[in-house]
Amino acid sequence: MTDASSPIPCTLFPGDGIGPEITAATLAVLDALGAPFEWHAHVAGATAAARGDDPLPEAALADLRATRLALKGPLATPLGSGYRSVNVRLREAFQLYANVRPGRSLLPDGKFPDVDLVLVRENTGGFYVGVEHFIPIGDDPHAVAEATGILTREICRRIAEFTFEYALKHGRRKVTVVHKANILKSLTGLFLETVQDVAAAYRDRVVLEDRIVDNCAMQLVLNPAQFDMILTTNMFGDILSDEVAGLIGGLGLAPSANIGKDAAIFEAVHGSAPDIAGQDKANPTALMLSAALMLEHCGHLERGRRLREAVVRTVATPATRTGDLGGPLGTRAFADAVIENL
Ligand code: NAI
Repeated sequence: MTDASSPIPCTLFPGDGIGPEITAATLAVLDALGAPFEWHAHVAGATAAARGDDPLPEAALADLRATRLALKGPLATPLGSGYRSVNVRLREAFQLYANVRPGRSLLPDGKFPDVDLVLVRENTGGFYVGVEHFIPIGDDPHAVAEATGILTREICRRIAEFTFEYALKHGRRKVTVVHKANILKSLTGLFLETVQDVAAAYRDRVVLEDRIVDNCAMQLVLNPAQFDMILTTNMFGDILSDEVAGLIGGLGLAPSANIGKDAAIFEAVHGSAPDIAGQDKANPTALMLSAALMLEHCGHLERGRRLREAVVRTVATPATRTGDLGGPLGTRAFADAVIENL
């Protein structure tokens, strides 16, 4: 049993863009809840790079090695060229192999009021390993581009075992493995084959079905309530989880947990939203729900439940929604409304 008051050291990345605003809102709610986190804040990403620092400073890495726990705002990655994604570096450094993205309808008046699924994305392999290059021809340095996706049986096995254990722990009955084994026969074929092997040990308790990714994308739009858990590779998981976020009302509502052998990092699915940064417009719901997942991860089940229920109650009421959901509130006022609902 976790002592309800013993301090929990936690690394904090306020993040880029809207990150500091949604982080401040989330910390205010956690404070009001009496959550005993002891924050170790670090500047990273584009904000650190703009100062001439490493976008993932060694001090932050060392701190995370010690705390093994982080709450993270979004960190921007330059497109095309520039420094490598800090998010990907963190996943690699701490072997955060399971990206858990719950997608649950929170808006009673939303387009899909009955979505309640958990998407598990393999977080370390596939096309995100960064093995890619251009081949110059003549005077065109970018004449040819080549990217390699890498998966091992071990990577596939650990994410499959994680998913079936998660299903048992959380009362989920069905896992849909999503792949493209008809075209990427080796890369996603190995994924499918290994998940099927692992599933055999859970046959009596969890049903396994499989879908090709394009079909899954369509089925999600037609009838998302048919899905219970989705297990998929890195890039398909990235894309499908944004689709799920869209189904439940938008990126502002989608939380995630990155779970690994050496640490766990909790963050919103969305990015740094530079278009609305610094304007008190960002919806902090996704980061608040990620903090609820973090409380549960730390054994604070009751505080996690209270936080989630307060957030759900706040977004369910049109008068206490943020602008992205058509409501009148800014980031700070939304945090106040959640605190009232605690
Ligand atoms: P984005 O998720 O930042 O924004 C997409 C759209 O959603 C924008 O219109 C934005 O205003 C809106 N949006 C996102 N979060 C919102 C919120 N909480 N409240 C209200 N509206 C919200 O995606 P984009 O523009 O593709 O990426 C921006 C930067 O974020 C990039 O540098 C990207 O690399 C980075 N990024 C970082 C992630 C992370 O740290 N985990 C994840 C995804 C992107």
